[in-house]
Amino acid sequence: MNTQRLHIAIQKNGRLAERSLELIEAAGYRLNRGASDLAYSVDNAPIDIWRVRDDDIPTFVANGVADLGIVGRNVLAERSAGADGEGLREVMQLGFGRCRLCIAAPVGFEYAGPASLNGARIATTYANLLSRFLKQEGVAAEIVPMRGAVEVAPRLKLADLICDLVSTGATLEANGLKPVATILESEAVLVRSARGLGPELERLADSLISRFRGVVASQGAKYVMMNAPRSALPRIAAILPGAGAPTVMSLAGRDDEVAVHAVCQESVFWETLEALKATGASSILVLSIEKMM
Ligand code: PRP
Ligand code: ZN
Repeated sequence: MNTQRLHIAIQKNGRLAERSLELIEAAGYRLNRGASDLAYSVDNAPIDIWRVRDDDIPTFVANGVADLGIVGRNVLAERSAGADGEGLREVMQLGFGRCRLCIAAPVGFEYAGPASLNGARIATTYANLLSRFLKQEGVAAEIVPMRGAVEVAPRLKLADLICDLVSTGATLEANGLKPVATILESEAVLVRSARGLGPELERLADSLISRFRGVVASQGAKYVMMNAPRSALPRIAAILPGAGAPTVMSLAGRDDEVAVHAVCQESVFWETLEALKATGASSILVLSIEKMM
């Protein structure tokens, strides 16, 4: 019997496309990018990557055409705010593709809270989320549904405002728009279908998920080493951001000083190092972590 293959749907073009491929490669899967434009295969595991429009990813996964998908939470939220939100499960956040779904107005527009939107026409590809927001805020505005290039709608007098994703803000700025309200915070997530995959694919999916967790956990995490007076240990443990119990080792010929090693899950800033120094710590080293499990 042929080995079953695991199928992962990712965005073909756009903000998440390259980062999704990088994540898959960082997890140790060797991509064969040449194969075809729609599908990349993995050389060292029975995995295929479907490259599709991000808006189609939930449908692919819900229908079982793909087993897993990497997609913005915004796309999932728009789907579940509508009629067909079933069949998907969010497995984990992936730590990239952060953005906000915002209502944006021409730079001169005076915004004093949601009531300012009464009577306005708002263009968006997120009609379900926008409609839910307007209802929650008790605002009577007209939604102008679009399929893309929403940012040009005000200039074309198709709408007064827009509701669209903002990540760097460059698109809004280039079009003379400014964000006035945030209706959703989003980032890339891994989704899977709610149904089981069968034992073989389930094992493959489990291993991929735990590798992804390792990659995501190691991003931003740092390995911190220093020498410190034994008496400063409680203060040091309180300063190290997001560290568990640090490893403490004795130094040859010294009773008062120890070596302290810790994995910090949060950013280690210069201020952190200064605070450590102030406890009497010396030779402080901060190292990147390549893999973690
Ligand atoms: C979003 C959005 C804007 C752009 C904003 O597109 O539609 O075009 O990102 O990013 P910026 O604030 O950094 O300029 P996305 O990549 O999600 O693709 P899609 O909306 O075409 O699916
Ligand atoms: Zn899209």
